[in-house]
Amino acid sequence: MEKFVIMGGKRLVGEVTISGAKNAAVAVIPAALLVEGVCRIENVPSIKDVDVIVDILKYLGAKVKYTDSHSLEINCERVRSFSAPYELTDRMRASYYLIGALLGRFNHAEVPPPGGCNFGCRPIDMHIKGFEALGAKVSFDRGVIEAHATKLQAAQVFMDIVSVGATINIMLAAVRAEGTTVIENAAKEPHVVDVANFLNAMGADVKGAGTDIIKIRGVGKLSGGTYTIIPDQIEAGTFMIAAAATAGDVLVKNVIPKHMESITAKLIEMNARVEEFDDSIRVSREGELQKANVKTLPYPGFPTDLQPQIVALLSAVPGTSVITESVWDNRFQYVSELRRFGAQINVDGRVAVIEGVEQLTGAPVRATDLRAGASMVIAALMAQGVTEIYDLRHIDRGYEDLEDKLRRLGAQIVRKNDDTADMVGEVV
Ligand code: EPU
Repeated sequence: MEKFVIMGGKRLVGEVTISGAKNAAVAVIPAALLVEGVCRIENVPSIKDVDVIVDILKYLGAKVKYTDSHSLEINCERVRSFSAPYELTDRMRASYYLIGALLGRFNHAEVPPPGGCNFGCRPIDMHIKGFEALGAKVSFDRGVIEAHATKLQAAQVFMDIVSVGATINIMLAAVRAEGTTVIENAAKEPHVVDVANFLNAMGADVKGAGTDIIKIRGVGKLSGGTYTIIPDQIEAGTFMIAAAATAGDVLVKNVIPKHMESITAKLIEMNARVEEFDDSIRVSREGELQKANVKTLPYPGFPTDLQPQIVALLSAVPGTSVITESVWDNRFQYVSELRRFGAQINVDGRVAVIEGVEQLTGAPVRATDLRAGASMVIAALMAQGVTEIYDLRHIDRGYEDLEDKLRRLGAQIVRKNDDTADMVGEVV
């Protein structure tokens, strides 16, 4: 089994370049199914979730090739299948975008529900409500969600809860429907805007993405074009937090500073130094960090996908910090792993109370999900001694070359096979 072995206590210093956004890529790539022409997609992150969604498109009959390590050329003109295979859809959560994209293209989709839950139940009832409003009949039979419409008709859809996935999925289904669909109380996350921009670059007519009302005027056909995916807000935030955690000095390059405002503000509140440039942010530290309270919220609030990372950081900041998770029901499962470092954290439902300790101590731990994995890495970088992190498959789903990027900043981190006999102390 692969693991990271990290010797803590090294300052991160230097520059790191952020990859394309995972949560944009896993929506933009299936959105190519709507396009009858060639889509050129640049700044594609090299991560496992992208590999899986590319395999699904190929399975459906798309021609997909990499023109360089981060650029994809996708041609879905000859796709005739609307049925996605369980073996692949089960490997990623964002496979639900296949429903909107296939429904939008063929008026028919057969897709098994997305892969298992790591942090509580992840319903897709609002996606379904949106498809039904557009005129589709949606059923669930023998492990497959089947959506079918004789014809998709524009509709007015009010989202009961702000949902990134449902907003994007309804956008995908509506893009070729007849008339103008209006999504109210839409999610405003940068990747929602990115998907809308991609669709528009391919010939769609989507207005208002980034506000809470999105209007999609159906067009007959999308015919192709070139698009560059935005930088990953969460990867950037992870490096910003890691820089502050190690009293480092890191220039985080290829970011959109506007997307980072809630993180920038929180780190400044905690006494880190954050300087913004056109497309980069420098994070450094002069004194001790201060405790802080954090509440996760839909964009532009503090992202839930950085909650585990900031909890790791605050677990070694003296004083009491209170973290409220208001997006997911059950996103503190990883806390039991952080306690192995000596962190003192009590969880009651959606609230975690952290009593910051002087020093974390390295320990063997597991990445219980993707962002939990990033949290373990940050704790390990701060901790005294050696940490081993298992279950790297979660981290590999969403972070490109995490260990190389950290190593270039001065971290002592190696990926090892657990069967390798070397002594930990020799390899880090
Ligand atoms: N919800 C419903 N019904 C629905 C959809 C969502 O009740 O039909 C609820 C969820 O249970 C949750 C809230 O609405 O409480 C928000 O969920 P949302 O739909 O926004 O989440 P998602 O689209 O499934 C995306 C990201 C997640 C990120 C959330 C919140 C992708 C592929 N995933 O998930 O990212 O946590 O938005 O920002 O974009 C990650 O990258 O590690 C990750 C988990």
